[in-house]
Amino acid sequence: MALRFPPGFTWGASTAAYQIEGAGPPGSRGTSIWDTFAARPGRVRDGDNGDLACDHYHRYPEDVQLLEALGTGAYRFSVSWSRLQHAGRGPLNQRGIDFYSRLVDALLDRGIEPWVTLYHADLPQPLEDAGGWPARDTALRFADFAAAVHHFLAERVTRFITVNEPWCSALLGYASGEHAPGRTDPAAALRAAHHLLLGHGLALEAIRSIAPAQAGITLNVAPVAAATEHPDDADAARRVDGLTNRLFLDPVLRGEYPEDVVRDLSPLSNFGFTADGDLAAISAPMDFLGINYYAPQKVYGTPDAPPVEQPSRYPGMDRLGFHHTGRRTAMGWSIDASGLTGTLTRLTRDYPAIPLYITENGAAFDDEVTGGQVLDHDRIDYLDEHLRAAHAAITAGADLRGYFVWSLLDNFEWDQGYSKRFGLVHVDYASQERIPKLSAKWYRDVVQANGFD
Ligand code: FCB
Repeated sequence: MALRFPPGFTWGASTAAYQIEGAGPPGSRGTSIWDTFAARPGRVRDGDNGDLACDHYHRYPEDVQLLEALGTGAYRFSVSWSRLQHAGRGPLNQRGIDFYSRLVDALLDRGIEPWVTLYHADLPQPLEDAGGWPARDTALRFADFAAAVHHFLAERVTRFITVNEPWCSALLGYASGEHAPGRTDPAAALRAAHHLLLGHGLALEAIRSIAPAQAGITLNVAPVAAATEHPDDADAARRVDGLTNRLFLDPVLRGEYPEDVVRDLSPLSNFGFTADGDLAAISAPMDFLGINYYAPQKVYGTPDAPPVEQPSRYPGMDRLGFHHTGRRTAMGWSIDASGLTGTLTRLTRDYPAIPLYITENGAAFDDEVTGGQVLDHDRIDYLDEHLRAAHAAITAGADLRGYFVWSLLDNFEWDQGYSKRFGLVHVDYASQERIPKLSAKWYRDVVQANGFD
């Protein structure tokens, strides 16, 4: 069926610094928590790290050409904090400024609007050594960093995403330990969540004090359903929804932490880390909310649940089970585009009046290069289904203004290293050759038509 997105709809592709850049010339980037984590045996699959990644630091002109060929009017990337401030504080490093200036100019020359994420998972190691996100000072350091970045980009960039997926940084980084810095301290994870949100609020204020900008935060929001009708499962679903979605949405969009979540967490924390004025800063008006959507979750809370597939990411819920059903991606995540419609309509209902952008959506599959081509029909199906699902939400009244595919390039998928490929463009990590997949051609047609015929 032919579908058209609203006029002016933003089409884009997303990446993040640590996942694509590589270190660059010796001494040009400080150490981040991902460098340290990846160097620890057994933490990242196959011992992979971000030292070279897609070598985007050197190959960005070719990558900008790939974007131009896609025809997207926008590109979302993140700046590496440890490239711009090796120690996480002080004046910005000139080599780092020059790199991002060249990148931004190359984008603008081709009419591609830069969307800059200020924090995407790669905290400078010296700040982790000083306490990391569980320490309040990190939020203040981040606000300073955000102001400095906006200062040098202000004349060329008007779109900023403060923090990407604070849930991941806080809960995977400090509770389950699956991501850097790999700590397993649930109470620290809650402090980290608060300080990531505070960092967002303070950064927003700092950015706006420099020059006008369109700014927001990106959250990973997903529907959470009980695996059965058992009341224990229903309660587990409420708790997981609270910790995944509402713990972040409510402070940002309502200026308060959800009461039931605070109650659930009371054995771990009294939320005493919330100082006067914090929630006002965190809920300062934003221009948009970014949503990263991959898959819905099904949750068991009963003791006879199937075995837990992963360490608990949820403070206070050690026995929690997750379930992925039906078709799955190479990550093992279930493919269910109705969850995207549900997420967008839920946001429209529960948190009205904030423009929405899908800042990440996409899928990893076990792509194969055959005769110089990657015929990734499964990825095309995934994207097709999710775009139709997003369109359905618009028809139902969601104020969705744009869509960014994750990702432009195959890249370093955190603890999964280079084993999971999310790109529209295939990367041969040995030769650094890029091959646009069939999905890139398909996406170019969608962008050009502003929908489907
Ligand atoms: C998101 C991250 C992004 C990428 C995708 C697959 O959680 O923001 O960097 O790894 O997942």
